[in-house]
Amino acid sequence: MTILVTGGAGYIGAHVVRLLQEQGERVVVVDDLSTGRADRVGGATLVECDIASPEATGLLTTTLRDEQVDAVIHFAARKQVGESVEKPAWYYQQNVGGLTNLLTAMEAAGVDRLVFSSSAATYGMPAVSSVEEKLHAEPINPYGETKLVCEWLARAAARAWGLRFVALRYFNVAGAGWPELGDPAVLNLVPMVLDRLARGERPAIFGDDYPTPDGTCIRDYIHVRDLADAHISSLAYLDRAEREFDVFNVGTGEGASVREVIEEIGRASGLDATPEIRPRRAGDPPRLVASPERISRELGWSAERALPEIVSSAWEAWQAGPRRIEV
Ligand code: UFG
Repeated sequence: MTILVTGGAGYIGAHVVRLLQEQGERVVVVDDLSTGRADRVGGATLVECDIASPEATGLLTTTLRDEQVDAVIHFAARKQVGESVEKPAWYYQQNVGGLTNLLTAMEAAGVDRLVFSSSAATYGMPAVSSVEEKLHAEPINPYGETKLVCEWLARAAARAWGLRFVALRYFNVAGAGWPELGDPAVLNLVPMVLDRLARGERPAIFGDDYPTPDGTCIRDYIHVRDLADAHISSLAYLDRAEREFDVFNVGTGEGASVREVIEEIGRASGLDATPEIRPRRAGDPPRLVASPERISRELGWSAERALPEIVSSAWEAWQAGPRRIEV
C-alpha cells in the first residue's frame, strides 16, 4: 500500500510514518515544515506544502495520482488552544480549510480512505467520569470546534461520494516511541515540567483546588507509540468496516493527576521535582478521561503502555535532544 501522511514530519505523524515504514508500506509525506522537521520522515518522499494554501488542492491531487496513493492519514493542523482563541478565523482557515482542500483532492483522485487526527477537545467540559463517543460534543474553544467541524465535513463527504473515514479523538499524548522522535514543542504538561527542570526551576501546578482527590486536574495520558498503533489499526478497519464513518476515543481509560505526573517525572529523572502551586489556568476541565471501550471492541486496539513508560520515554528523548539535563 502507499499511504500519504499529511503532517508526517511532526511529533505524532513521524511516529506513524516510522511504524508504516517498519511494516514495509510506502509512505509519502506532505508537510509545510512549519513545526515538523524533514529529518523525521526517514526514507519517505517529502512534498513541502501548506495544505491550507490556495495552491494545495492541485498539488495534492497530482501527488495522490502520481504516487498512486491508497489511503491518507491527516495530521497537518494547528493545535494550540490559546492561539485558537486569539485567532479563530485563522484556525478555521487552517484546520477546516486544510481538510477541505484535502477532501477535494481525494475525491478528484479517487482516493477514498482517510484517518483523521481529532481531539478530546471536541468534548469540552464533560461532567462524567469517563467520556464515551456518543456524548454530545460541546467544544469550548475554536481549536476543539475546528476538529468537530472537520468530523462533520468528513461525514458529509462519506454520504456524498463514499469517503471511508475514521476520526481518532486523542486524549493527552506524551512520551516517545524512539528517543529521536520526542515532542519538540514545550506546550503540554510533560515537556513543560522537563523544560522548567532544565532551567533549574520548580514544576508548576496550575491550580490545586479542583474537585479531585489531590486537588489537581486529571487527564488520560496516552503513549504516542500506542497512539501510532491506533492509526495502523484504523487503516485495517477501513478495509473491512461496513460503516463508512466512525469516531473513536484514543485513551487508556485511566486518569492521572497533574501531581502524579510530576511525581513520576521526579522518579524517572532522579531530579527534585517538588512543584509550586500557581493559579488555575482558564478553561481546564477538572477531569477528562476516555472510555476506550468502543475502539477496543471495533478495532481490537488498546493501550499497552502506562504512565511510567510514557514519562520514562519522554525523559529519555529529552536527554537525547539539545535540552539535555545534567543529573
Ligand atoms: N499543567 C500544569 N502545569 C504545567 C502544564 C500543564 O499544571 O506546567 C496542567 C494543565 O493545567 C492541565 C494538565 O496539566 O490541567 C494538562 O495540560 P496540557 O496542556 O498538557 O493538556 P490539556 O489537557 O490542557 O490539553 C490537551 C491537548 C489539547 C487538547 C486537550 C483536550 O494539549 O490539544 O488536551 O483534550 F485540546
